[in-house]
Amino acid sequence: MPGNEQLAIDLARMTLGELGELELRKFPDGETYVRIISDVGGKDVYIVCTLAWPDTRFLALTFVAAAIKDLACRRLQLIAPYLAYMRQDRIFRPGEALTSRLFAQQLQQHFDGLITVDPHLHRHASLEEVYDISTRVVHAGPLLAAWIVENVADPIIIGPDAESAQWAEGIARDASAPWAVFNKKRHGDRLVQMAAADLGHLAGRTPVLVDDIISSGATMRVALRLLAAQGLPAAYCLAVHALCGAKTATSLRSHTAAFLTSNTVPNADAALDVAPLIGHELIRASADSSIVAAGLQDGRGCRR
Ligand code: R5P
Repeated sequence: MPGNEQLAIDLARMTLGELGELELRKFPDGETYVRIISDVGGKDVYIVCTLAWPDTRFLALTFVAAAIKDLACRRLQLIAPYLAYMRQDRIFRPGEALTSRLFAQQLQQHFDGLITVDPHLHRHASLEEVYDISTRVVHAGPLLAAWIVENVADPIIIGPDAESAQWAEGIARDASAPWAVFNKKRHGDRLVQMAAADLGHLAGRTPVLVDDIISSGATMRVALRLLAAQGLPAAYCLAVHALCGAKTATSLRSHTAAFLTSNTVPNADAALDVAPLIGHELIRASADSSIVAAGLQDGRGCRR
């Protein structure tokens, strides 16, 4: 899908797959025209589409998916490096829509499977709780950890809130560094209150803030302020999914030792490439399905 071309090219190259071709354009009235050019009949097809700003992308994505299915592909899967609508994972006030589940219901009507990177799992324990189709999750933590090991001497890994503990702990383990999480309470889309852990005993370490998502930037801004108040050196700020605008990114760049993200959402600070992680997962998935197919053919039964 538009904006995901580089990742699609890289994945096709890594998996020795064929790069599909489609025509997608807007009519003068803003409606979408779709035509699948490649021969997809009988093939395993993967659509690559990050789902940042999903409301502007989703309808065209469903048209493309339906057109591919009409051409009798074997199996259609979505590679969504960023999976949207995972943060409204509970009804907080009566009358709210539980959009994590509603979005899943919409999406899974069009796909046989979903591959994504670090979905925001907080009150939902796993993607299987939300999606009925087959899902595979790729973790970007090792990429962040490898960058930290290369670039930061004596780091301490900080997660800005309780739910970031899952990323902070894994990254700290991979980077052989201590870690801590702060305590955050959200009062509004752009308003968060936070209490810092006391890092006094870790003087001399360089703080590295890690989180899955940066959206308004409020979480990172407040965490940076609390770190500065403890007299620590300028912090590094790393995230998997950059949903923030250019203004927030510029501000984070100027208030940190470095600000960088992965390319699950293409952006100017995307220094960490998730293509090899997703490529490996695709190769693993295709090995698994060959084992299943071989098992079915020779009567051994399948492995999973
Ligand atoms: C939520 O808990 C996530 O892990 C992030 O901390 C949050 O989405 C960041 O949002 P914002 O940048 O708007 O504070």
